[in-house]
Amino acid sequence: MCGIVGYIGEKQAAPILLESLSKLEYRGYDSAGVAVLDGGDINIVKAKGKLSCLAEKTDGGKNVAGTCGIGHTRWATHGEPSELNAHPHRNEGGTIVAVHNGIIENYIQQKSKLTRLGYTFYSDTDTEVATKIVDYYYKKYGDPLKAISNFILKVRGSYALAVMFSDHPDEIYAVRKDNPMIIGVTESESFLASDVPAILNYTRKVYYVGNEEIVCLKKGQADFFNLDGEKIQKQISNITWDAEKAEKGGYPHFMLKEIHEQPKVISDTLNCFIKNGEINLSEVGLTNKEIKKYSGIVIAACGSAYHVGVVMQYVFESLVRIPVRVELASEFRYRNPVMNKSQLFIVISQSGETADSLAALRLAKSAGLSTLAIVNVLGSTIAREANKVLYTKAGPEISVATTKAYSAQLIAGYVLALRFARVRKTASKEELKSLVAELSGLPEKVQSILDKKNSMQRFASSMAGKKDVFFIGRGVDYAICLEGSLKLKEISYIHSEAYAAGELKHGTISLIEDGTLVIGVLTQPDTIEKTASNLEETKTRGANVATLSFGSRKITGDVKFTIPQVNPYFAASLAVVPLQLFAYYVSVLRGNDVDKPRNLAKSVTVE
Ligand code: AGP
Repeated sequence: MCGIVGYIGEKQAAPILLESLSKLEYRGYDSAGVAVLDGGDINIVKAKGKLSCLAEKTDGGKNVAGTCGIGHTRWATHGEPSELNAHPHRNEGGTIVAVHNGIIENYIQQKSKLTRLGYTFYSDTDTEVATKIVDYYYKKYGDPLKAISNFILKVRGSYALAVMFSDHPDEIYAVRKDNPMIIGVTESESFLASDVPAILNYTRKVYYVGNEEIVCLKKGQADFFNLDGEKIQKQISNITWDAEKAEKGGYPHFMLKEIHEQPKVISDTLNCFIKNGEINLSEVGLTNKEIKKYSGIVIAACGSAYHVGVVMQYVFESLVRIPVRVELASEFRYRNPVMNKSQLFIVISQSGETADSLAALRLAKSAGLSTLAIVNVLGSTIAREANKVLYTKAGPEISVATTKAYSAQLIAGYVLALRFARVRKTASKEELKSLVAELSGLPEKVQSILDKKNSMQRFASSMAGKKDVFFIGRGVDYAICLEGSLKLKEISYIHSEAYAAGELKHGTISLIEDGTLVIGVLTQPDTIEKTASNLEETKTRGANVATLSFGSRKITGDVKFTIPQVNPYFAASLAVVPLQLFAYYVSVLRGNDVDKPRNLAKSVTVE
């Protein structure tokens, strides 16, 4: 995610801005910048790459004079990582400058309105558009509060926005919606930041800014206003966290923080592709003509991304009735696969840098297939080399074990399948309408599972000593087992296998003995009974059985976990959450380094 900071006080702003930004580096970024107000002029300095590049350019902030400034680390969502796209962004005359964290969903419509009004644009970012919306209303009303309140009324999306006006030299204005922002104060200084770590070195006295509250920062003072420009009284809080805990938003590990970010990540990714109750992939550039012409789909990926591909295979083949092949990229690239140009090749990759997935993409391109990448990192190699890209909106994922990016990739797979079904008319408008409505309900259902995480913590504490764990299921349930088993293996180091339930009796059931843990995933109506009897078979051989199912079904099992009812196509988005939590708590109980498990890297950029 991007990081924003602001400072106004008696000291030189730039060095403080750089130091504050360094405390937000953990959030992931690809460029950075500062803007400092000095005697009515705003001086902007930006740099692509690490913060050290910006520090070098500004001699540690010394050559950017002024005691009032804002800064930004950018995690690109709109517009490639570049100095031009880096924040801060400005209006035509450089008299209004802004930094922003979030996504302005209707920036394209706002950009065309401003263009018709004579505005021009130098970058590809939604933030430049936001800055010029503020500029438009500032020119109209001459009042920063009115300019910002009109901005709020015009834009759709999420933002934490800080703005400086050159004719208000001792003030910083800010507003947030669905993106974090805190305000820190001392006797003579005020600070603004996306997150607590950025200001902990200066103050522990903070205000938490509410949605659509406008803040005016002055030296040692923060005034809050509502949309009507009326002053709001706010309580000051005292931060007790240490710096390390603050980076994780108060969670003990990035993985647990990212598990809890999933409702928002699912909502952010859905909001990019659901417009007026319909799936809209215009951002991806997949035309109806192309969708109609594909004879089949080949999906290649690694690890958890591969598991998303397995879910997609079931959902696509059931909904769209075209053949879908899902391949381990590391196998696909070497086995001289048979492909034809009428197929669509989809590569899934959080990092967009996985060597095997990149090689698979290049192989498909050399065979003349049209290629689509489902990627989280904007401007990554796979994103740049695929013909088309569907970006997930998970933000940077710090923990090696993927959770929120996996969930965002699932959403990408669902919206693609629904769009294909709509264009190829393999599902009725009514069915699609209700499926889209189901998708919109996912964030709340995931949250309801997270709210009951203690039951999974208790289960994990009783199972942390297990030596072998099996996950069994059929169809989408098998795909869920693949992900649940990998999560457990990679962070708890317990041997675990995911098995297609029907395959167990073809050899593996010989491994079941007293105390073996078998977790059955049972969300697919047509196969629940079958899998339940497979579980019985393991139980009679001494296994401890746990089941994960929708609340409505009575199923055998020593321990039962239920998830809210959802269309079985989307069950993976809910069922994966208890399994993520199970793996997390077992890993913690075993004293492992949850976020950086042994032998693993976040992105496997080598073969
Ligand atoms: C998942 O928890 C692992 N970190 C790993 O399997 C990962 O999904 C795989 O390496 C693929 O990474 P990518 O999505 O960045 O291509």
